[in-house]
Formats: sequence, structure tokens, C-alpha cells
Amino acid sequence: MALKKIAVLTSGGDAPGMNACIRAICLSAESLDIEVVGYRAGYIGLLKQDFVTLNTTKIQNLIQRGGTLLHSARCDKFKQHKYIQKAAQHLDENNVDGLIVIGGNGSFKGAQKLQTIWNKPVIGCPGTIDNDIAGTDYTIGYHTAIQTAVESLDKIRDTAEAFERIFLVDVMGREAGFIALNSAIASGADHVVLPETFNSAAEELVKILDKLDKRRRHRADSSHIIVVTENIWPGGLNILQDSLHAETGVDVRILTLGHVQRGGSPVWQDRLLATKLGTFAVKAMVRGDKNVMVGVKSALPVCVPFTELDTQDKYLNPYSMEMLETIMLYG
Ligand code: ADP
Ligand code: F6P
Repeated sequence: MALKKIAVLTSGGDAPGMNACIRAICLSAESLDIEVVGYRAGYIGLLKQDFVTLNTTKIQNLIQRGGTLLHSARCDKFKQHKYIQKAAQHLDENNVDGLIVIGGNGSFKGAQKLQTIWNKPVIGCPGTIDNDIAGTDYTIGYHTAIQTAVESLDKIRDTAEAFERIFLVDVMGREAGFIALNSAIASGADHVVLPETFNSAAEELVKILDKLDKRRRHRADSSHIIVVTENIWPGGLNILQDSLHAETGVDVRILTLGHVQRGGSPVWQDRLLATKLGTFAVKAMVRGDKNVMVGVKSALPVCVPFTELDTQDKYLNPYSMEMLETIMLYG
């Protein structure tokens, strides 16, 4: 069936580059004479039939803008079958021939459920700063989040060095260490605490103290930057702060980078990725794909069935892990 009208929405944690993806979807659709509507605030808009028509005026100067012009949200109701049925009914009432969901793993669970009861195509575009989606090398927003974290870590190094302090820098990632690992490497941090390798607070504390000790024997006065993935330290980072201060006598400060990592103009990698994925999602839908996420593997677009996402693990780069010991010992 020829597509006349498709819809797009952004759901879950917003990510820099979501706008660039919306733009790419609109440009592709327009080149094929397909109308595009955008539901506002993720699945909430779908349940309220709150949508806008996206034409070329709406997407002007959009590629460089952070956030999402459609707004994003979490919608707990969507986890219930009756609301998914309602969403399918609304899509039919609004004469929508296909839906593109830009979001993360949670949003794709909703998209997959919708696809089981709605016979028109649902396609996902991976948009999350966490990069925690299997089936794609990168997610939209991830590179910008790293850039933001690195810029902050560079600044923290200046003040940490001036006061010879230890800084614990909490970065996002949900349950994945992609942002932590790569921002730590790129900023020359001294240690990184990752969910993928974290066993216990006691074990990690020994590792940190050992590293601080070796560093201190190697060079007298210095700062120490420790990047920690959010929510990982049992009881919170102030527990680690107290332990480190008690053991070393050094001033320890905590910086939680937080939602600043979700904002800002997307870096070129995210603009390019969002443009590739947005155009490819439309192309895939036109050729008849459904129930899939579009992703990139070695810079080329691919389609991955939603059903396979749950069964695939996504690993931190093994070489990055291997080189940590070398690059984080003497700074
Ligand atoms: P992300 O998409 O960034 O991973 P969330 O996990 O918060 O973000 O999910 C975003 C939204 O996706 C939720 O608020 C909900 O509307 C929908 N969602 C998440 N999990 C499910 C699920 N198991 N079934 C249906 N919808 C879901
Ligand atoms: O998934 C993106 C993300 O920013 C995670 O890194 C973080 O754990 C979470 O969303 C924060 O969610 P909220 O917007 O509810 O504070």
C-alpha cells in the first residue's frame, strides 16, 4: 500500500539530534509526496490525538537545534494494553499509514507492542544519549553528551588541579557505561567506575585507593578526576566521598553533570547519524519494512527487528577497556 501520511514522535529521554532526525524524516517524506504529522510529547500525544502537521516551514533551521520540537515525555499508561489499543485506533482515525518512534529501549518496547495490534508499519530510530541500544553502533545524542561531559571535565580539572582535590564526577548512562568510559578517556580522567565492571563498593574503593597511591608516588601534588556512572555507588557518591577523604586526607568534591548532558546543539556526528537514520526509516517504511529499528553498523544503515533487540547485549569497546590501565595510571 502506498504511504500517504506518516507520523513521528519523540519519546523517553530527549537527546540532541532528535530534531535533526525529525527534519530528515520530513525531507525524505516530502520528496516522496508523503505528508508528515508529529504527535506531541511522545505516546501522550498519541493518546490525546495531539498532533501537528510538519511542513518545510516547521523544519527550517532545525538541524542544529537541541531538544525536540515535538517535545518528549514518559507515558506510563502506554504500558497497558487498553491504551495501546486506543493508540492504534487513533492512528487509524487520523489516517496515518505508518509511525516512526524516535526514542530508547523503553519507547521501542511500546512501539513493538503497538505493532502487534496495528497492521501498519512501526519503525524505531534510536535516540538516547545513553547509547545503550543493541543493534546499532551509535544512538542519536550520544556523541553530543560525550562532548558536553568532556568540556565539563576539562574545566573541573583546572579547579581540581589548583586545589589539589579529588573530584567525583557523576555522568549519565542509565545502566550503561558508554558516556562514562568515553568521556573519561577523552578528558584524561584518572579512573572510571562502570556498571559493566562494578562488583562491590569495597572492591572498587580498593582499586581507586591503589590507583591514587601509585599516582602519588609517581608525582607529588596533583588532582584526581574520577568519573562515575550515575546510580552506581550504593548509598550515593557522598559515601565514596567520605571514604576517600578518610583514607587520603584530601578534599573530595562531587559534581553531578545531570541533564546538561541531554541539552545543546548536536555535534556533527549526531547530525549526520540522525539524518542517515531519519531518511533510512522512511526508505525502509516505503519498501515495506515494519516492526524494526533502523540503526548503523560500520557507518551503514541497517534494519534490526524489534524482537531481536531484547536478546542482544551491547558491549563496551574491548580495546578501550584494555587500554584503561595504561592510560589511567600516571596521567
Ligand atoms: P527510553 O525510551 O528513553 O528508554 P523509557 O524507558 O522511560 O525511555 O520509556 C519511554 C516510554 O516508552 C515510557 O514512558 C512508556 O510510554 C513507553 N514504554 C516503556 N516501557 C514500555 C513497555 N514495557 N510497554 C509499553 N510501553 C513502554
Ligand atoms: O535515558 C536518558 C537519561 O538521561 C538517562 O541517562 C538518565 O538516567 C535518565 O534519562 C534521566 O531521566 P529523567 O529525565 O527522568 O530525569
